[in-house]
Amino acid sequence: MTRAAMLRTALVAVAAVAPIHVRRNEPPGPPARYGLGRPATAEEVRSWDVSVMPNGNGLPTGGGTAVQGAAIFRQTCARCHGPTGVEGPFDRLVGREPRQGFPFGRDASLVRTIGNYWPYSTTVYDYIHRAMPYDAPGSLKPNEIYSLVAFLLRRNEIIADTAVMNARTLPGVRMPARDRFVLDNRHGGREIR
Ligand code: HEC
Repeated sequence: MTRAAMLRTALVAVAAVAPIHVRRNEPPGPPARYGLGRPATAEEVRSWDVSVMPNGNGLPTGGGTAVQGAAIFRQTCARCHGPTGVEGPFDRLVGREPRQGFPFGRDASLVRTIGNYWPYSTTVYDYIHRAMPYDAPGSLKPNEIYSLVAFLLRRNEIIADTAVMNARTLPGVRMPARDRFVLDNRHGGREIR
């Protein structure tokens, strides 16, 4: 067979197969509806809308003190964080050391706690509300959470024994590590190495 004849045969073969081939690979258009799920109800959206911002936006009404929080902590938290929030077995919640400097990047043995590392007091509320107790998140009421926040801030030597934590007072509590975090105002490019 000449080269030209071979080429002709090959083209015919391709032409014969091509239409089927093309039709099989046509992507189906997206369906108008997938038939999955349903719109969330207003009630569900409210129950998931739990974010508390550093300025206090999102904090509910209610309140509590460290004394009230101590009892709740003993019952609900101590088995995982220790009787004073220090002993564990899980994360240590109380500790101010090192009081000077901020050497966390250099010394990996330092334990980061609410007292030495968290920049915003309102995050303590947000975090406990959404995540604790670890095995029953979402089970605590606002008064209980405010009380636990007061207890943990008291244990970390940030507020007085008698201070009432609520939507008005909590955002005003200044954390020891507040100035240790700055907004990253770099824009990319050469300055980022
Ligand atoms: C069943 C064990 C368990 C119980 C009960 C529990 N925790 Fe925790 N807690 C954990 C674990 C595990 C972590 C670490 C979670 C992670 O890093 O994702 C944690 C983390 C935390 C942190 C963040 C610590 C940090 O600096 O990152 C806080 C605050 C906290 N718990 C508070 C509480 C409070 C308040 C209660 C009681 C209402 C509670 N926990 C009950 C297991 C528990």
